[in-house]
Amino acid sequence: MRQRKLLISITLFSVIAVCQFPVMAADAEAGKQISQSKGCVGCHGANGISAEGTSYPNLAGQKEAYIVKALNAYKDKSRTAQLMNGMAAGLSDEDIANLAAYYSSLKPCP
Ligand code: HEC
Repeated sequence: MRQRKLLISITLFSVIAVCQFPVMAADAEAGKQISQSKGCVGCHGANGISAEGTSYPNLAGQKEAYIVKALNAYKDKSRTAQLMNGMAAGLSDEDIANLAAYYSSLKPCP
């Protein structure tokens, strides 16, 4: 019985931990710097929310793994969008991980 309680506690803690702290390895602060130096902010906004009336997608709060996948797809051109193929071409795996950590950490609503 005690073991079962312990198991339930560990399981609950793991679920909470995973939800609260998605991936700690990538560096969101470095991602913020890259978003400024590479000009991502120009289209996707300073807080990951793009300007009204544009067709640029919001990135704030997007799933980290999805951002990694999207940027890699633009980089290897399996996803084509002229603007983004050019932007992603110069990103390293580390840049992509850090950008994904940064954008996923932002609040989806301002
Ligand atoms: C000149 C404007 C522009 C700049 C600069 C730009 N983007 Fe984009 N981005 C776009 C557009 C437009 C799309 C949608 C393209 C499409 O149809 O796939 C997009 C799509 C994306 C997506 C996929 C979103 C989704 O929901 O699938 C990600 C991730 C992304 N951009 C990240 C970045 C990052 C990181 C940078 C900086 C390195 C950057 N973008 C710079 C215009 C821009």
